[in-house]
Amino acid sequence: MALRDIVKDGNPVLRKKSREVTVFDDKLGKLLDDMHETMVAADGCGLAAPQVGLLKRVAVVEVDDEYFEFVNPVIVAKSGSQVGPEGCLSVPGRSEEVERPEKITVEFQDRKGNYFKGRFEGFIARACCHEFDHLDGILYYDKAVKK
Ligand code: CO
Repeated sequence: MALRDIVKDGNPVLRKKSREVTVFDDKLGKLLDDMHETMVAADGCGLAAPQVGLLKRVAVVEVDDEYFEFVNPVIVAKSGSQVGPEGCLSVPGRSEEVERPEKITVEFQDRKGNYFKGRFEGFIARACCHEFDHLDGILYYDKAVKK
């Protein structure tokens, strides 16, 4: 495993749409391992592939020792709403209040290409929404609640 450099706001890669993953090989596994290590080292709770400079629909989320790897995630259902503070490893030193759904249902694949459906609520749902937005070139402050 290896630490990867985290791309900072202002780099155009953060504003591009990521491509679906179609090859589930060792390189993808290595990317996921590196992203997890990089996220933990940076004390974050999520990281998306564009944040390490790769336009692939891949994200990792870890909250309270629950770790998830998402390949090609799609939010297929959402309900409720929550407003809370978010920050981003690509936007250091900033935090804004963002409204997110309280509960989401996600269809995704794992590093081997197996399909899963998961339900998430509360903070993990927020973290997932934040990371999946990265895959469409959206940064959390685009959605900041106006004060
Ligand atoms: Co972020």
